[in-house]
Amino acid sequence: MANRPYIVGNWKMNGTRALLAEARAIDRGAARAAGVRVAIAPPFTLINPMADAVQEIGVGGQDCHVQPSGAYTGDISAPMLKDAGASFTIVGHSERRAMHGESDAVVLAKAGAALAAGLDVIICVGETEAERDAGQAESVVCAQLQGSLPTGEDVAAKVTVAYEPVWAIGTGRVPSVDDVSAMHRAIRDRLVAIYGEDGAGVQILYGGSVNAGNAAELLSADEVGGALVGGASLTAESFLAIVVAA
Ligand code: G3P
Repeated sequence: MANRPYIVGNWKMNGTRALLAEARAIDRGAARAAGVRVAIAPPFTLINPMADAVQEIGVGGQDCHVQPSGAYTGDISAPMLKDAGASFTIVGHSERRAMHGESDAVVLAKAGAALAAGLDVIICVGETEAERDAGQAESVVCAQLQGSLPTGEDVAAKVTVAYEPVWAIGTGRVPSVDDVSAMHRAIRDRLVAIYGEDGAGVQILYGGSVNAGNAAELLSADEVGGALVGGASLTAESFLAIVVAA
């Protein structure tokens, strides 16, 4: 059976309990859009109240530590996310890679920690503008996939890949549909090389300035199985418009 389109909101470092009202409204809207799978990754502080407040949508983390517990002040582990009500976590977002120096090896370790805790993982990859201008976009993304994707029996079913060109994040700029298609086809080829036939079922999300106006077109590109949405996921109105477009 084909996967339902998967629309995930990444709230980044936004939201206090007041924003749970939007999550409830998104949850009600998602219940009316049965053909689409919807989830939100709120900040850590909202995972537990959001998990209690919603029924239809998944709730996940935006990151996790590689260790399950220990002397890591300020960090949150994958078992803690699970305990708080998360069903998945994002790892390897470009903001983590750039601002926290996370290498592919670290992202791989975090993905492994998430899987060990019983969470699904969304693994982010994407090139910078300089890398795209230098004609290296596909090679950079494929190297990130090779270095960041966990392998092993039955792992592919728990993995989602999000392609987020760094230069499209929060900028209002998006790649052409042809460029999105080309990159997503390259990612699919790499997934099949890594996971064999299971790689054909891994969902590949596009992320970077997705909004109600461009979602339908971006989601029509080859091998795009959904979207990872930042700014436009913060209100029910804009996020549900993307869900409807899917
Ligand atoms: O993870 C989502 C993201 O980085 C895209 O953010 O605000 O461009 O939709 P935005």
